[in-house]
Amino acid sequence: MSEVLVIGGAGYIGSHVVKDLLAAGFKVKVYDNLSTGHKCNLFKEAEFVKGDILDFATLDKAMSDVSAVVFLAAKKAVGESMENPAKYALNNINGTVNVLNAMSKNNVKAIVFSSSAAVYGNPQYIPIDENHPLNPLNFYGFTKVETERMLEWYDRLKGIKYASLRYFNAAGYDEAGDIKGKDENPQNLLPIVMSAAMGERPYLEVFGTDYDTEDGTCIRDYIHVSDLAKAHVLAVKKLLAGSSSMTLNLGTGKGTSVKEVIRAFEKVLKIKLPVKYASRRPGDPDKLYASNEEAFKQLGWRPQYLDIEDIVRTFAAVYMK
Ligand code: WQD
Repeated sequence: MSEVLVIGGAGYIGSHVVKDLLAAGFKVKVYDNLSTGHKCNLFKEAEFVKGDILDFATLDKAMSDVSAVVFLAAKKAVGESMENPAKYALNNINGTVNVLNAMSKNNVKAIVFSSSAAVYGNPQYIPIDENHPLNPLNFYGFTKVETERMLEWYDRLKGIKYASLRYFNAAGYDEAGDIKGKDENPQNLLPIVMSAAMGERPYLEVFGTDYDTEDGTCIRDYIHVSDLAKAHVLAVKKLLAGSSSMTLNLGTGKGTSVKEVIRAFEKVLKIKLPVKYASRRPGDPDKLYASNEEAFKQLGWRPQYLDIEDIVRTFAAVYMK
């Protein structure tokens, strides 16, 4: 049985990936510094190593008998990356160098990497496919582009095969309720709507109602975290079977507006949300959604959650406990 090292496996997306890898029969080792991950997200069937990606010795030791790495550990707050680039350079770039060097040293030849739609910047066309130019608008997105470039070089020079998975807007929670820890990232729309629904904030602000969209609010591609997790398992299997490297968008291919998200919450929770219409947030493109054809071609992956209400339901279930 192949062993997979999931770096960042106690985090929001990582814990869902661990669940699916275990279900697929892999031996799993989680590596996490628990800075944003949760102990309650750990599965007893998976070994746990508490460690930081900046600590090469611990990482090197954890890598000793693994066949593949899923690398999710990273800083991910876009706004913070513009205020504190050093933190992002250190964790996201130096951290990647350590992971790739530890892999080289231990002869690990497969890595699935958490990339992001943030690599594209303002869309020149939609749906965005993988050939769209890379023009990140923030330092966070830049760190993802740089990591992708590093992956290309370690493939050429060290024969490490990669699957770089560019997530669109990750959302929702495991439907079975096996993942208990909430993502501590209130900066994204869905957790913000949820906190307004729970009275934790007085109202929800909608950033801009004059966009070039049907209802005037921005359109995004909300992809369920369990669908993301499935793609990781397929990518690990494909790389272990000897595939060449790949870069894939993970999105539904469907756009949902901010107003549609709000309506979905109101319908699912049977409440009226306190909403304030505010001005645009700088740097927000009006429409952003993925072409996911390449992920289907390469992995046979199709997302299951296509209705925002279903995503909201899985979200609410975790928060309302
Ligand atoms: C979604 C929509 C906002 C909050 C970011 C990163 C991206 C990726 C996912 C990691 C936008 C609107 C939001 C609010 C609002 N991250 N909004 N009121 O900006 O699409 O993507 O997260 O890889 O890189 O940039 O997501 O959730 O911040 O916003 O009206 O209080 O909701 O303007 O249109 P975004 P988001």
